[in-house]
Amino acid sequence: MKVSTEPVILKLGGSVITDKAADQGIVREADLLRIAKEVSEYRGKMIIVHGAGSFGHTYAKKYGLDMGFDPEGVIITHESVKKLASRVVDALNEYGVRAIAVHPMGCTVCRNGRIESMYLDNIKLMLEKGFVPVLHGDMVMDLELGACVLSGDQIVAYLAKELRITRLGLGSAEDGVLDNNGKPILEITPETFETFKHHIRGSGSTDVTGGMLGKVQELLELSKTSCITSYIFNAGKGNNTYRFLNGESIGTKISPDKRVEV
Ligand SMILES: Nc1ncnc2c1ncn2[C@@H]1O[C@H](COP(=O)(O)OP(=O)(O)O)[C@@H](O)[C@H]1O
Ligand SMILES: [Mg+2]
Repeated sequence: MKVSTEPVILKLGGSVITDKAADQGIVREADLLRIAKEVSEYRGKMIIVHGAGSFGHTYAKKYGLDMGFDPEGVIITHESVKKLASRVVDALNEYGVRAIAVHPMGCTVCRNGRIESMYLDNIKLMLEKGFVPVLHGDMVMDLELGACVLSGDQIVAYLAKELRITRLGLGSAEDGVLDNNGKPILEITPETFETFKHHIRGSGSTDVTGGMLGKVQELLELSKTSCITSYIFNAGKGNNTYRFLNGESIGTKISPDKRVEV
């Protein structure tokens, strides 16, 4: 098995590790443990970012946190996603993955919902020493809005750009970005996005961060600004996470424009 010395970024969608249809935080235990085992079989360096799922979106919606500032809602949502992070980190450590939670609220400032700055020195040192930093969708302070919802998808793109990580995969609950026949689209580039755009929508569940369309837009922007290719695959199916970590191309590939590819 080829072990990459370059770190990999893996996102675990809230739709995979939680029951997103629930009106409170519910973990999908069996899926979380299966994924933790798959992750433990990979020997390289990695950063894991997980979505907030029903631990975040339900409360963000209830307190209207995507629309305005509500201090009580910020605390309830943040405390809730921290609980999920703790469950994810525990599951990973049970399988021998040296995972440490890094809560975005403690190290990030946004402006109008976009990351303005994130403290990264701890994450770099963790990677150097063989730990696996685990970040997640969270409420964070915002210079204009008071606080804002920060999606795991935005975190993934930001970390890839800032840390120059070129292999990233977003494990979600579908076989990739699906076309109008429900078949995964093999590749999307900034050039071909217009053709597929009308098939890609928000989440089917309660979601305040844009669902599949939000994901694709973050990754397309990253491919444009940094020439990075990423994958959206189904982490709800056994072995896919392991396959992605070990270098297989699965699901939908989001790549830079052919015209500007280097
Ligand atoms: N074209 C599409 N292909 C796949 N999923 C889509 C598409 N359009 C909308 N969706 C919805 O977006 C969801 C994925 O987004 P989301 O729920 O935010 O996932 P995650 O929890 O992994 O962030 C899918 O489960 C589906 O309900
Ligand atoms: Mg999402």
